[in-house]
Amino acid sequence: MTSPADAHDADAQRAFDDLIANERRIEPRDWMPEAYRKTLIRQISQHAHSEIIGMQPEGNWITRAPSLKRKAILIAKVQDEAGHGLYLYSAAQTLGITRDEMTDQLIDGRARYSSIFNYPTPTWADMGAIGWLVDGAAICNQVPLCRASYGPYARAMVRICKEESFHQRQGFEILLALMQGSPEQRVMAQDAVDRWYWPSLAMFGPPDDQSPNSAQSMAWKIKRFSNDELRRRFVGMLVPQAEALGVTLPDPDLRYDADQGVTAMGEIDWDDFFAVLRGDGPCNAERIQRRRTAHEEGAWVREAAAAYAAKQAAPRTEAA
Ligand SMILES: [Fe+2]
Ligand SMILES: [Fe+2]
Repeated sequence: MTSPADAHDADAQRAFDDLIANERRIEPRDWMPEAYRKTLIRQISQHAHSEIIGMQPEGNWITRAPSLKRKAILIAKVQDEAGHGLYLYSAAQTLGITRDEMTDQLIDGRARYSSIFNYPTPTWADMGAIGWLVDGAAICNQVPLCRASYGPYARAMVRICKEESFHQRQGFEILLALMQGSPEQRVMAQDAVDRWYWPSLAMFGPPDDQSPNSAQSMAWKIKRFSNDELRRRFVGMLVPQAEALGVTLPDPDLRYDADQGVTAMGEIDWDDFFAVLRGDGPCNAERIQRRRTAHEEGAWVREAAAAYAAKQAAPRTEAA
């Protein structure tokens, strides 16, 4: 026998399925299956954490950027990443999780963020390689998310992607300047590309046959293309750019054809990737520690802001 509650759920599920089938957006007011909500909370909060933790490897170079112009550009870029984190935390909050819960999950090590930010940035060329490869991979991943079925996420991605393309170009331009410089600068640029190339490919996630949640995310139209498809597309975009830069992509098995794109590529070292994911990367502990310290040191700002908001919200007395 069907209870009224079950009948309501079935109707709501049908309305949800129709919205998805018709390429319409799911909004915070709409009914949604619990698994869809949970998947989105996980994905959006991980994405937000990645933007925030991602400020660290580059923030590391702000005081050491080689000129005032480079410093101004890098500050703007790192600030953009903070903004991305904030849009995304707000988008996740529309699904019923609080900012405090998400912050706690991050600083006590329960939440994940992109493994790419657990690698160190020993030279200035790393700023170029991160912009070109890491922001480049982020764009490939995120442009399709502008059409994700959840409205607040998709809308946040539109603005984020515009800024990411500036990030990618500034990285390319740093590498270009180095490649046109001294022999030492060219070696430094190539070394950074060698270190960031494979981790940037791993950013697309495990191979399709080892990515158990992908099919459901595609059915919900959160995800539009498979991990391997996006990875191949990214490498296809890199090949002509690497040629323009004069750098070598460190994959001897890479085959590219101007008409067909990437026809073959080497294997990613997944053991290394999963080790970093488990927390054994070169900088995992340092990144979280730094985030925790920043959070603790910012406590007085949050308290002051809350006190100010309470004062503004209190009814004004006649005497004033
Ligand atoms: Fe970003
Ligand atoms: Fe970026």
